[in-house]
Amino acid sequence: VRAVVLEGDRAVAVRQVPDAALPGPDGAVVVVERTAICGSDLHLYHEGTAFAGVRLGHEVVGTVAETGPEVRTLRPGDRVLVSGIVACGHCPACLAGDPVVCLEGQMAALGTSHALPGGQAEALGVPAADRFALAVPEDVTTEQAVLLTDILPTGYLGALGAAIRPGEDVAVIGLGPVGLMALQCAQLFGPARIFAVDVVEDRLRRAASFGAEPVDATGGQGVTAVLEATGGRGVASVIEAVGLDATIVDALSCAAPGGTVSVIGVNLSMDLPFPMALAFLRRLTLRAQVASIPGTWATLLPLLRAGRIRTDGVFTHQLPLSAADEAYRLFDARSDGVLKVLLDPTR
Ligand SMILES: NC(=O)c1ccc[n+]([C@@H]2O[C@H](COP(=O)([O-])OP(=O)(O)OC[C@H]3O[C@@H](n4cnc5c(N)ncnc54)[C@H](O)[C@@H]3O)[C@@H](O)[C@H]2O)c1
Ligand SMILES: [Zn+2]
Ligand SMILES: [Zn+2]
Repeated sequence: VRAVVLEGDRAVAVRQVPDAALPGPDGAVVVVERTAICGSDLHLYHEGTAFAGVRLGHEVVGTVAETGPEVRTLRPGDRVLVSGIVACGHCPACLAGDPVVCLEGQMAALGTSHALPGGQAEALGVPAADRFALAVPEDVTTEQAVLLTDILPTGYLGALGAAIRPGEDVAVIGLGPVGLMALQCAQLFGPARIFAVDVVEDRLRRAASFGAEPVDATGGQGVTAVLEATGGRGVASVIEAVGLDATIVDALSCAAPGGTVSVIGVNLSMDLPFPMALAFLRRLTLRAQVASIPGTWATLLPLLRAGRIRTDGVFTHQLPLSAADEAYRLFDARSDGVLKVLLDPTR
């Protein structure tokens, strides 16, 4: 099959690789219909030399081609969406849809290591398919299904983790596709004002169209603007959806006393200088998480069906898999009005 392979810093290529294999008796092989590029892929893309040879991609919708003998809920021909996060699939946490706290310690993202080849490819092996693949209901669009593989669950868990209460104010830092999902999910909890912070103009405009107050963080002015707009106090809940050291500090800086900061941006630093005084003297709560995708599906499907979460216009670009190189460059540059990019492996 053809697959997107990381070749070096800011370099991907579409290569012929060995066919996708069943990852075990509880696994399945899925022929990919559409797959998206995620901000998490960009972290790997920027450090491509360290991850050279990794087959990328963890946001996949496709059709089951083969199932292992232990798979019960799926059969060949089923159209499925695949969780970007997988784990052992049989411990109590995995059975509860919470693979991030897998009791076997096997939590992993597809397409981030050599051990778990990714889904920006013509086909993909899915471990523990009963747990980590879901048959796509007929009334769910392909785009909605792709969003359910990662970024909508991430946005939802980010909002849930921010402990938003009706009538309180929220800030969302980072308005990429993940932040924009988080923004909409924040609205489910009834906040008063939502400040939407980014440096890209069309993303600020998009957030405003969702009813948020855009805050341009160009020149490091984001925190000041949020504090000014709240009489110096800050907001009760902050969702951080960038992952830079600086934006995590920004998130802590614009939280009001007693507030909660919910980090969903990926930051794998082991030595981030942490402004302890901000948290300690103002009794902040900090949550950070990789999203446990499958556990959110039962909540998010009805919200999508009822139109409570808007997904139109999220995918701004669709390219054939063979143009993955161009697709990565475009998404990374945040130019041309790009928000989220779909790859089509059938072309
Ligand atoms: N926790 C999870 O499970 C999970 C899942 C998916 C993605 N992520 C992470 O979420 C983050 C966002 O992903 P995305 O796909 O939306 O990526 P993205 O790169 O499109 O979005 C990042 C946004 O942050 C903005 N930004 C950059 N610097 C900023 C600053 N100083 N102040 C304010 N905004 C700034 C960018 O302009 C951009 O719009 C990434 O770190 C990604 O790895 C986490
Ligand atoms: Zn992702
Ligand atoms: Zn497990």
